[in-house]
Amino acid sequence: MKIAFVGKGGSGKTTLSSLLVRHLATTGAPVLAIDADINQHLGAALGLDEARAAELPAMGAHLTLIKEYLRGTNPRIASAGTMIKTTPPGEGSRLLRLREDNPVWGACARPVELGPDTVRLMVTGPFTEADLGVACYHSKTGAVELCLNHLIDGPDEYVVVDMTAGSDSFASGLFTRFDITFLVAEPTRKGVSVYRQYKEYARDHGVTVKVVGNKVQGQDDLDFLRAEVGEDLLVTVGHSDWVRAMEKGGPSRFEFLEDANRRALRLLHTAADVTYGLRDPERYTRQMTHFHLKNARAWGDERTGADLAAQVDPGFVLGEAVTASTPG
Ligand SMILES: Nc1ncnc2c1ncn2[C@@H]1O[C@H](COP(=O)(O)OP(=O)(O)O)[C@@H](O)[C@H]1O
Ligand SMILES: [Mg+2]
Repeated sequence: MKIAFVGKGGSGKTTLSSLLVRHLATTGAPVLAIDADINQHLGAALGLDEARAAELPAMGAHLTLIKEYLRGTNPRIASAGTMIKTTPPGEGSRLLRLREDNPVWGACARPVELGPDTVRLMVTGPFTEADLGVACYHSKTGAVELCLNHLIDGPDEYVVVDMTAGSDSFASGLFTRFDITFLVAEPTRKGVSVYRQYKEYARDHGVTVKVVGNKVQGQDDLDFLRAEVGEDLLVTVGHSDWVRAMEKGGPSRFEFLEDANRRALRLLHTAADVTYGLRDPERYTRQMTHFHLKNARAWGDERTGADLAAQVDPGFVLGEAVTASTPG
């Protein structure tokens, strides 16, 4: 299943993404963590030191490899050069699975040991000014969107994406690729305004958004969030000394995380599991097509010199039962 964390910068997206990744890892399920935030800190939050975090390969640097692999023998996609971030899979495309090794994971994912458990981490690479444009061809999050659109993920497999709630994810359709989106909000007017904006985009696309209140201290904060976001408020997290100690580079065994915060993580886990049950593969595939056609018209056709609408395979549905190709 696919889980996103979004919210204002500094709200705690990276912190909560890393905590949920740690929690999920303890269940023994395969977990892929993806850092798609403007400020790339997920590696550090998962305990990598600076040197190891700096060595992580950037997905953006492997875009051609990713496209070549995913297009496979799909006759509708003439070349990697005509594959844009929204190009959907079809017959002949290669799909990705979490419980396999493939060239995409090989090039972009690195194992991160969390105590006895190991997760995979992929990072988009640092953003530049140009990446923040609305329909940028080389957008950093494009590689993430391609991977999610070619991923076959079951209920006990988790992808957690630490993401910026920016215009790029709305233009491309990235924000519709998740079973559940956790919007991290501090109990402030700014924190809540990001929620309102997100909710508005999400409404038209049936995106499930739940608010995670962060840095919540006491009843006032709780009352404020309840009043502002109503029943979208899933859970609140207070200040965590464990997180603070971790930031100072202290040894940090996950089992020492405060009980209240562990309970909050279990709640996020359950909420994600519940929404997985509501999946509609046909709708998911339809949305992919919708955003692809939109991007094709807006800039893709012109940029690639191809008719990108022809890339859509009308008979294809991305779902668990699909066997469009055998990897390798
Ligand atoms: N619940 C928390 N307890 C203690 N510190 C927190 C908590 N949530 C976030 N922080 C701290 O706040 C800062 C910003 O959090 P971060 O997760 O990096 O935000 P974002 O990814 O949304 O920009 C970091 O220094 C982080 O350690
Ligand atoms: Mg961050």
